[in-house]
Amino acid sequence: MSAARTEVREVWANGHPVYLGPGSLAALQQRLDGIDGDVLHLVLGDSNTLRHCLPELLRHVPALREAELIEVPPGEASKDIRVCSDIWRHLLERGADRQALLVCLGGGVVTDLGGFVAGTYKRGIRFVNVPTSLMGMVDAAIGGKTGVDLAGVKNMVGLFHDPLAVHVHVPFLRTLGKRELLNGLAEMIKHGLVADADHWEAILQAPLHDLDALTPLIERSAEIKCAVVKEDPLDLGHRKVLNFGHTIGHAIEAHSWEGAGRGLLHGEAVAAGMICAAWLSWRRDGLPREELDRITDHLLGLYKPYPFAAADAHRLIELMRHDKKNAEGSFRFTLLHRIGEAVVDQRITPAQVKEALEHYHDLVRHRAQGEEVP
Ligand SMILES: NC(=O)c1ccc[n+]([C@@H]2O[C@H](COP(=O)([O-])OP(=O)(O)OC[C@H]3O[C@@H](n4cnc5c(N)ncnc54)[C@H](O)[C@@H]3O)[C@@H](O)[C@H]2O)c1
Ligand SMILES: [Zn+2]
Repeated sequence: MSAARTEVREVWANGHPVYLGPGSLAALQQRLDGIDGDVLHLVLGDSNTLRHCLPELLRHVPALREAELIEVPPGEASKDIRVCSDIWRHLLERGADRQALLVCLGGGVVTDLGGFVAGTYKRGIRFVNVPTSLMGMVDAAIGGKTGVDLAGVKNMVGLFHDPLAVHVHVPFLRTLGKRELLNGLAEMIKHGLVADADHWEAILQAPLHDLDALTPLIERSAEIKCAVVKEDPLDLGHRKVLNFGHTIGHAIEAHSWEGAGRGLLHGEAVAAGMICAAWLSWRRDGLPREELDRITDHLLGLYKPYPFAAADAHRLIELMRHDKKNAEGSFRFTLLHRIGEAVVDQRITPAQVKEALEHYHDLVRHRAQGEEVP
């Protein structure tokens, strides 16, 4: 095997390493080889990831060829306590003891669900994340947050449980659809905006259809996520920089699922949220106008605008109030001082949020009519 194919970099998040580079799956094989004793290996995936990614995983990690497979249906609905219960039962029937090791092969749904199951079964067994979606590689698989949804509320039940490691193998993305790719790209754009202006510039130039060109950018984003969670493992302070675009974004995401139209993916809603937050940053925190315009143009060029009616602003603000992260009265925003530098805990009043939403609404309307926005 050539040196290039085995090249691997280890970057630490809070309590776990992330392996990047063409040798990242070889590093998983090595880790499994290095564990003594009789270890039951299990691979959890959804029907898409087991179909598209399992053969490639087994090619690189022969130690998993005898692993037990556990399949869940694709989609957010699998982040449910009943699905956990099925998996716990499955583990029990297969005689999984505390030495067992669960490999989560999938997007954020599989890694959130699998991490939670691993963290609770017999008071905690080991697990490894092998993300297969872009969202998973740059965000969901890293940082040790696990959990499932309850009564329609996302991530209501969960725990911090670190994987043994995260292995990022970018070629898995070959079978991921374009919409899902853009979904994860929104988080990468966010990483550049809040932490690394050069990364943002590189993403602006990146050809989205070329995975080879995207690979170093994906790895840089994973590194940024690692660095941020390392500083704030329990999400008490600095990790809030990662909320940029999410305060309004979460409300837009929820709102999009209320109507008759097609719901937005998380990253699509965050893209709209980032446009609003960038505008607030210009108004409140001195983000230069020229930087605001570049952010707005880039995001509007990539993501289909969300055309809510002007009267919906009230409902969006109500949804923001339901968000557990928003204190009474005003909202706490992460804003940009300039591209690459974020400030957290900025107080924004509901009236200012309304203005930002109106700005977004005008942008979308003018764009649909092919006009310049003043
Ligand atoms: N724990 C965290 O810190 C964190 C951070 C961000 C998001 N999340 C969670 O992650 C979830 C979203 O993750 P997601 O966007 O990866 O969604 P997902 O796991 O549902 O994956 C999206 C779709 O892509 C398919 N897929 C995945 N990899 C594929 C591949 N290589 N080829 C073909 N199809 C593939 C999946 O089957 C699914 O249909 C949410 O539940 C969210 O709450 C968690
Ligand atoms: Zn997000």
